[in-house]
Amino acid sequence: MNRRHLLSSADLSREETEAILTTAASMHDVQRREVKKLPTLRGRTVINLFFEDSTRTRSSFEIAGKWMSADTINLSGKGSSTSKGESLRDTVLTICAMSVDALVIRHSSSGACHQVAGWVDASVINAGDGTHEHPTQALLDAYTLRQRLGGSLDGRHIVIVGDLAHSRVFRSNVITLGRLGARVTVVAPPTLMPSGIGDWSRAEGFATSWDLDRTLYAADPPDAVMMLRVQRERMTGGFFPTEREYSDGYGLTRERLERLYAVAPEIPILHPGPMNRGLEISAEAADATSSLILDQVSAGVAVRMAVLYHLLAGGEGEGAVA
Ligand code: NCD
Repeated sequence: MNRRHLLSSADLSREETEAILTTAASMHDVQRREVKKLPTLRGRTVINLFFEDSTRTRSSFEIAGKWMSADTINLSGKGSSTSKGESLRDTVLTICAMSVDALVIRHSSSGACHQVAGWVDASVINAGDGTHEHPTQALLDAYTLRQRLGGSLDGRHIVIVGDLAHSRVFRSNVITLGRLGARVTVVAPPTLMPSGIGDWSRAEGFATSWDLDRTLYAADPPDAVMMLRVQRERMTGGFFPTEREYSDGYGLTRERLERLYAVAPEIPILHPGPMNRGLEISAEAADATSSLILDQVSAGVAVRMAVLYHLLAGGEGEGAVA
């Protein structure tokens, strides 16, 4: 794979997506070793530049870099000179003047990572830009699903439920899961359905619904269900009447989980985190035996190691793990 940036899931062909997932599997083995250090990125410098809060994504990129012997540094919007009024362009040019090899960026503006990629020589990895995309999350979700569903996602039916309007995770997942041959149905109340989604619906294997129960208990039940967080911090108005009503209509409640298990026993449950327990997902669903939520976190490190490897070491998968 000969690529410098990872800005959108659409940057990756099916072959490239699969190559990253294959490398991630080798990296996942490293994670189980007592000594988790590979020399692969020795001498490379990776800066994690996060202008939005993060627990999973930032720490997993940092761990991924460290386990491959890169020098990793974390900078947050609040702790950097952007809080003194420095522009994004000046900030990234300043950082890149220190000869860094990769910038992992999270920013509240959709398209920020694309812009940065036009300004710097370093590799740019999108760790979430506004409501646009989050390609490494989609890769780790696909990796987790492939592990649980036994390899290929061809023809598998994945249901994604929740605050689609504000979700970069859903946008990247639709692309990556589609690339891997899965069918995707997205479910949200009309107020949280992104505008223009009608155009997407013409894509093969993609469907939308306002009715979660009808989607879940259809004659052809899904192979996995992914719940998304209600992103209150991005909401400017009232998108649903009350939390109770949202949960009744669109939450994976205990009652809904029991009914779902009756038609699809032990169906895998995903959530990118952070979760609003009791709103989009009940404690029973989050902690269910078929919940993959912590598997997703674990896969996050392996997938980010694989992405750094492919972008910075230019590898094809073989020889990634010493
Ligand atoms: C997501 C994000 O930040 O886009 N979380 C994550 O990266 N694990 C989803 C969210 O914030 O709800």
